[in-house]
Amino acid sequence: MAVSSAPGKVYLFGEHAVVYGEPAVPCAIERRARVGVEQRADSKLRVHAEDLSLDGFTVEYGGSTDDRPDVDVSESLISAAMGYVDEAIAQVRDVTDEDEVGFDVTIESDIPLGAGLGSSAAVVVAAIDAAARELGVSLEADEIAERAYRTEHEVQDGQASRADTFCSATGGAVRVEGDDCRSIEAPDLPIVIGFDGGAGDTGQLVAGVRDLREEYGFAADTVEAIGDIVRRGEEALADGDLEELGRLMNFNHGLLSALGVSSRSLDTMVWAARDADAYGAKLTGAGGGGCIVALDPTPETETALSFTPGCEDAFRAELAEAGVKRLE
Ligand code: PMV
Repeated sequence: MAVSSAPGKVYLFGEHAVVYGEPAVPCAIERRARVGVEQRADSKLRVHAEDLSLDGFTVEYGGSTDDRPDVDVSESLISAAMGYVDEAIAQVRDVTDEDEVGFDVTIESDIPLGAGLGSSAAVVVAAIDAAARELGVSLEADEIAERAYRTEHEVQDGQASRADTFCSATGGAVRVEGDDCRSIEAPDLPIVIGFDGGAGDTGQLVAGVRDLREEYGFAADTVEAIGDIVRRGEEALADGDLEELGRLMNFNHGLLSALGVSSRSLDTMVWAARDADAYGAKLTGAGGGGCIVALDPTPETETALSFTPGCEDAFRAELAEAGVKRLE
């Protein structure tokens, strides 16, 4: 049995604009998915998942959906989780040349699903590392990131950026521009997260921004302006200037809102954080619902968020220096 964990992430800057070649800066957080992998005697894949925001579930199948037993959770959640694990295992079979090998896979995660915190990337990264090690192969972080990216690319019909998977595999703060991903220096950030209990539809939100860009020149300018914010944000990160980072996050949120990807609950949480004198706050990830990220070294924002209608969970998250971790 091999067990690995991998962190989720927040976007400090640049989601959506990154789809159009602008840079983005995601940052790994100490909220992790843990994946245990044990080789089986046959070639089946059995997945047991707990804490994936709904009831735990167990699915066993031999490669065909007909083999799946009835289970009491949403079919779409099962399909989503199975799709990622299935493809992650396919990547491991490919990289290790072990075509026929089967596994029991156990997933535990404290990252809300589909809420802009990179839950699927964390599961995929941890699964690839653990499955490869179970077969006696130790992959470098870059190789894990590449295989995890291919997994998301496959499962999400070609709609995946490298940001989540690279950040989860390597940890720390990351700069992504097109296919170029690299780690960057970041100070210890006082990250606070607010979660509205929901999730946005990434495909629909990305399509909405694309339509706006095609219809209005000023929407295209807005996307470019986000790129300018990211470049200034990188300087502020390098200088450890939290006040400037907060101002830029506020600006970034305003532009994301203008592009139609915020929501009432995300805006309400952002305003609650601002009223609590956070340095700044913005939505993180695709938007439409899910999480905001704020910077505040005091307990004020977390407290304010916990009393904010529509905020289901508020928590502090340390920056995760380490990406994938080998636990067993
Ligand atoms: O919600 P997340 O964490 O999957 O982030 C989506 C980020 C987008 O820029 C909107 C899309 C992408 O693939 O980069």
